Amino acid sequence: MNFYITTPIYYINGEPHIGHAYASTAADVIARFKRLDGFNVLFTTGTDEHGIKVARSAEKAGMPVQQFSDMVSQKFRDMTKLMNISNDDFIRTTEERHIKSAQKFWQMLEKDIYKDKYVGWYDPRDETFVTESEIVDGKAPSGGTVEWMEEESYFFRLSAYQDKLLELYEKNPDFIAPASRRNEIISFVKSGLKDLSISRTKFDWGIPVPGDEKHVMYVWIDALANYVTLLGFPDKPIDDMMKECIHIVGKEILRFHAVYWPAFLMAAGLPLPKRIFAHGWWTSEGQKMSKSIGNVVSPSEMVEKYGLSQLRYFLFKEVRFGEDGDFSEAALQNRILYDLANDLGNLVQRVLAFIQKLNGHLTVDYNFDAEAKVLFEHSHELVKKLRPLIDKQDLHAALLTVWELISESNKFVNDMRPWKLAKSDTVKLNKVLTVLCEAIRAIGFGVAPFMPDTAEKIFAYINTAGNSFDEINVRFTDTDFVAPAPLFPREK
Ligand code: MSP
Repeated sequence: MNFYITTPIYYINGEPHIGHAYASTAADVIARFKRLDGFNVLFTTGTDEHGIKVARSAEKAGMPVQQFSDMVSQKFRDMTKLMNISNDDFIRTTEERHIKSAQKFWQMLEKDIYKDKYVGWYDPRDETFVTESEIVDGKAPSGGTVEWMEEESYFFRLSAYQDKLLELYEKNPDFIAPASRRNEIISFVKSGLKDLSISRTKFDWGIPVPGDEKHVMYVWIDALANYVTLLGFPDKPIDDMMKECIHIVGKEILRFHAVYWPAFLMAAGLPLPKRIFAHGWWTSEGQKMSKSIGNVVSPSEMVEKYGLSQLRYFLFKEVRFGEDGDFSEAALQNRILYDLANDLGNLVQRVLAFIQKLNGHLTVDYNFDAEAKVLFEHSHELVKKLRPLIDKQDLHAALLTVWELISESNKFVNDMRPWKLAKSDTVKLNKVLTVLCEAIRAIGFGVAPFMPDTAEKIFAYINTAGNSFDEINVRFTDTDFVAPAPLFPREK
């Protein structure tokens, strides 16, 4: 079973910040879950390097644009590493494989392309065309200053796809998620689609239009084509993967992915992705993140200060995936203290440290009493409960579900009082500890997609490889465990 998941490819005119880390980590959580669940996963990310804005940033930095691109693209690769993103590939739109793919893609659209003149406004910040009615005080909706554009341009006959797009949304209600965003797109398309200018002549930092090299492709055609380049287009068949593809994007670029991209794919006769999921935006300490306010959240600072698993957990627990949220250090500290140290950390520590007191040896007994049976069943049902949530990209609900099992396990320890049983009933004690190890293993798998580093530690403590959900069905045998170190030490 195939599964393909993508992040947006990031513009390289600034430093990676928490917003980029968020999109990449979200896709990573889903990719990791699917791998553990036995899927053949392709997970991709990368950098979007052409366009007027990048050319200008390079000029400002006083660097040749290719060299500038190499430098900033590397920072995004570093961010990927920092966040422990398990991407299988990293694409740069300046790579040969992509130039070839984007040009072939263009040629496949040619029946819907014509030459004309573009006269109107352009917003370089979002690399998008804006209408007169969208402009307020010379600014585009993105806040960027608009520029007048008057040049020869190729156009894509987007207007011809209005009905086909509406039919697509109608027939595939889950094509755009979350549902609230779907309505937004439908009304945009219903309000009428104009043909789209898809080439520029005033600068050359882009992919040349095949057969007319004084034009470079509009950066969004170039950028969107990355998703097929990564499948080996045009040399390899892309159908099987593309049909299983989920694009994770920020809400501000949903229109490009849910309107332009499917229209291009239809025009090219290529398969459409399964879903476009638009996530929300983070503000920082109550305000829009901005360099001038100085409140841009740096992923590396946060990882340094609080730890990687801690940050990754926070991003998906604090805010429902799809909604906007506010990043605050106080909120992060609370999550670490309550959810991580007190709930998860405490459970693992109290059970495994207790086993250490019994010489680190677990004597298994699966002949469970009624209460242990319930915890055993709930542990085995965890993945079944998580599956549909992950398939809806409801990462927040998935975490809540894992935490239900953590709370239930902590309550089980409180009720069973193993420290008392050690003195009075070792037969029962072994059953209690056996089922608690089962619960901890299931919880380890539940948190693994979100907090791979933490899961790795948990698995090491209970002699579990942690490569596949199938391991949940393997019974523990009498075994020695190593002494656990606290998962979330207070001083981190
Ligand atoms: N290059 C285009 C995407 C092309 S995809 C074919 C682009 N790049 S971007 O660098 O400006 O932003 C990409 C993504 O970063 C956003 O869509 C979003 O996923 C993420 N974020 C950037 N800032 C963000 C926040 N403040 N909050 C949350 N995520 C945001 O657009």
